[in-house]
Amino acid sequence: MEPRAFYVAGRPAHGEGELTVTHPYDGRAVGRTSWATPDQVEAAVAAAAGVAAQAAALPAHARAAALDHVSRRLAERADEVAALITAENGKPVKWARAEVGRAVSTFRWAAEEARRFSGELQRLDTDPAANGRIALVRRVPRGPVLGIAPFNFPLNLVAHKVAPALAVGAPIIVKPAPATPLTALLLGDLLAETDLPEGIFSVLPLPNERAAELVADPRLPVVSFTGSGPVGAAIRRAAPEKHVTLELGGNAAAVICEDWNSDEDLTFAAHRIATFANYQAGQSCIAVQRVYVHEWLYDGFLPRLVAAVEALRTGDPSSELTDVGPLVSVDAASRVEAWVDEAVAAGATIEVGGRRDGATYPPTVLSGVPADAKVCREEVFGPVLVVAPVTDDRAAFAAVNDSAYGLQAGVFTHRLDMAFAASRALEVGGVIVGDVPSYRADQMPYGGVKGSGVGREGLRSAMEDYTEPRVTVLTGLEL
Ligand code: SIN
Repeated sequence: MEPRAFYVAGRPAHGEGELTVTHPYDGRAVGRTSWATPDQVEAAVAAAAGVAAQAAALPAHARAAALDHVSRRLAERADEVAALITAENGKPVKWARAEVGRAVSTFRWAAEEARRFSGELQRLDTDPAANGRIALVRRVPRGPVLGIAPFNFPLNLVAHKVAPALAVGAPIIVKPAPATPLTALLLGDLLAETDLPEGIFSVLPLPNERAAELVADPRLPVVSFTGSGPVGAAIRRAAPEKHVTLELGGNAAAVICEDWNSDEDLTFAAHRIATFANYQAGQSCIAVQRVYVHEWLYDGFLPRLVAAVEALRTGDPSSELTDVGPLVSVDAASRVEAWVDEAVAAGATIEVGGRRDGATYPPTVLSGVPADAKVCREEVFGPVLVVAPVTDDRAAFAAVNDSAYGLQAGVFTHRLDMAFAASRALEVGGVIVGDVPSYRADQMPYGGVKGSGVGREGLRSAMEDYTEPRVTVLTGLEL
């Protein structure tokens, strides 16, 4: 197996040592690359800083053309890219395909936003002293971006860092997750096919410990990180002067409101929740982890939920039939197992699931879980769902908010007033009405409050984050 090149300032390169990527399902080697050396890191950062002015001056059509090219090439190579995602991440191929489809849209949206990202014109003649004056408020890149990506969406969460950076004309250095660098390297191949100036992008495989040197580097004034809360907090502490965007964890909740009560309603909610508690083995920050059900619906809902979870097929993620594959590693599955065992020891009941097999943990539903158990309070990042009855919708909202996190919530209701009440009451970045919290359209603002992070992704939001306003005041005009 030939080692794959990574990218230093837009050029393919090989570094030191060996990074062998293994398939989470059976541990076989699926690809190799190497680690970027300190000299290569320096070359990437120097090139990003050196090309920043040229990148910021690129016309919109040039930025958009490069982004459209990547979108088109991802679509052309969709099956190959999906197979690579499955091989290094272990997510079922149907979810890998969905991820490729989303990345195609992410780059396409970035191209569209690049074409219309124009700033605003602000009149200043609101006071007599400013007669004849007007402000042109343009947004200019803050500077090169450091994007640190997680393993759970090895393509689309890299895309959410790269695409908005290129859309505004900011150079970007990507550090992919050490468990899943191969898809990011393939994305590098596609970026290298474009006419973007050399140095505008680098993709550097680095052990996590070496991210600190990049975070500290003043030539990278923007850091966009997706990953765990403790690492996000450490980045903020290490770089208080930088513009930092953090997409951290969540323990997303769904609420079944009193009015969501027909057979059809309950069956629909049970299927959506079963699917999205367990998609990619629960390794999504917005996978459903907690469900609060109005108490008089609980006995009708629970058997439907258990049946929907039992119907999920666990197994080899490369099979079209598999719904739930392995977690990213045996260690990850063992941690999930330990948390479930702890909840059971504290009095929880396993309604379905609960027996680990290597890196695979079966879809599991727990009831009667004490509120202070880790499976309620922390981010499980595994296929585990906690279900509990609540006395009324307000109590459900309070239970959702009883969390250190606040990313997204799902509220199953038909009532418009309830949708607005939820949107007002819930301490989250997004409320999905009539569906699970796991819904994300890639163009919409996405991010959390409390321990779930700061800033928003979604193309337009990230483009605003990666830029700052620059005002040009024009005087002496006849307005
Ligand atoms: C995440 O896990 O934060 C990303 C979820 C998504 O993009 O669907």
